[in-house]
Amino acid sequence: MTVRTYLPRRGRVSKRQAAAIGDTDGLLLPASDDLLDLGEVFGGLPVLLEIGFGTGSATITMAATAPGLGILAVDVHTPGIGDLLFRAREKRLTNIRAIAGDGLVVADQMLPESALAGIRTFFPDPWPKARHRKRRLVTPANAALLASRTKVGGFWHLATDWQPYAEQMQEVLDASRQWTGGVIPRPTDRPITRYEATAIREHRSSTDLWYQRTKVS
Ligand SMILES: C[S@@+](CC[C@H](N)C(=O)[O-])C[C@H]1O[C@@H](n2cnc3c(N)ncnc32)[C@H](O)[C@@H]1O
Repeated sequence: MTVRTYLPRRGRVSKRQAAAIGDTDGLLLPASDDLLDLGEVFGGLPVLLEIGFGTGSATITMAATAPGLGILAVDVHTPGIGDLLFRAREKRLTNIRAIAGDGLVVADQMLPESALAGIRTFFPDPWPKARHRKRRLVTPANAALLASRTKVGGFWHLATDWQPYAEQMQEVLDASRQWTGGVIPRPTDRPITRYEATAIREHRSSTDLWYQRTKVS
């Protein structure tokens, strides 16, 4: 897992974002190489991993409408982590935790096997140039890693506005014995993410894909 799926960005961190990150109430979990006890962290709720939440606006809406799910939200972008934490506290959400780091490393090092009820990956960086394609998050190796952390019957919900990437997602996941599914109509309860709002303004349509973790004998 040596290829980064993101470009490290500095991005100015506002005072509000910095204060939200500095708060020590436990909503921000430290990235580490120790296994997380998700049962303890989320009080026994089924847990969804979101990789790459951006500013987290859709994450917050989804966490607020499903208090019976624990959301482990991971991104590398510091200002977005500040925004997510600020909004989670503003709405007094208790079912969300954030980690500042690479979601694939978190899955590899911090998540036990078969721990997740589901995964969300909304608008992962499309890496449109051919020479950058190896950076895309949906690859056979990453699909296998994420399958190993997901319970049988759990799901992976993906969305992208980049049609060639939608095709790649489908090819990769259809070729995997650990996932079964395909393209679905856009779920009406999926909030428009910030990135998607830009895509809509620029007249790019989005594709949603839904895969279920299969039992591989
Ligand atoms: C195009 S943005 C989309 C953000 C958000 N999901 C949305 O739709 O507005 C992709 C996000 O994924 C994050 N990202 C990319 N690779 C990642 C990884 N391996 N682990 C965690 N976050 C990642 C980036 O930092 C960025 O915030």
